[in-house]
Amino acid sequence: MVAVTDGTAPVRRAPLIAGNWKMNLDHQQAIAFVQKLHWALRDAKHDKGSVEIAVFPPFTDLRTVQTLIDADKIPFELGAQDLSAHDSGAYTGEVSGAFLAKLACRYVIIGHSERRQYHHETDEVVAAKVRAALRHGLVPVICVGETSEDLEKFGASAVPVGQLQTALDGVPAGADIVVAYEPVWAIGSGQAATPQQAQDVCAKLRDVVAEKLGGDAADRTRVLYGGSVKSSNIASFMREPDVDGALVGGASLVVDEFAAIIRYQKHVGV
Ligand code: 13P
Repeated sequence: MVAVTDGTAPVRRAPLIAGNWKMNLDHQQAIAFVQKLHWALRDAKHDKGSVEIAVFPPFTDLRTVQTLIDADKIPFELGAQDLSAHDSGAYTGEVSGAFLAKLACRYVIIGHSERRQYHHETDEVVAAKVRAALRHGLVPVICVGETSEDLEKFGASAVPVGQLQTALDGVPAGADIVVAYEPVWAIGSGQAATPQQAQDVCAKLRDVVAEKLGGDAADRTRVLYGGSVKSSNIASFMREPDVDGALVGGASLVVDEFAAIIRYQKHVGV
């Protein structure tokens, strides 16, 4: 996370700390969680301008969390964990980006490794979903990452780079996107990548954004790291120049832990 330049004045990419709840917390639990997190940050006098915070609850919670954020003026962005590649029609069980946009979602996670693994989402499906998100004014959080077998066979960056190249097919240069590097072996394992590993791959992913969408887009686009992020390791990732935030799973479900991750600038002095 460093200042970058657009040729005239230094530009700083706003850090983004995103909580992917996965299939956890029903809509009633979501109310309690969001309120407690908000209070914890307020009690700690967290500077809300320092870090962008986003929560990604299950679909059935979105309306409830939207209403709460709106009513209590909570400075969190809302995102969904997936969307349909289609806009409407006979697609039982799917959720259109149009519906998410109506719920004031700003973000949508696309291509999470759990969707790729359990729902057989290919790079082409991911690309179609990215285009669908953009059609509806949503910011896609495009997840890429290698398995431990990929790591052994191809090294760390080849698979995520290839996944991102396909995901960005047909994306216009001005598009607002977020990229999340999540090595599959680091997700939920307690074994995070090292900051240097994250930096190396995130820098290569930024190069892909530059190649596909141009240098301005690459300077502007946030690249997140995800995989066993905790309050004790977040600062070391955020010190890396090409890591602009984190996509947090398990630790985003624990109020004090997620608040400490959000407050990484304070408790570890980045
Ligand atoms: P963990 O933080 O639980 O490893 O999960 C990471 C993740 O998959 C976020 O999308």
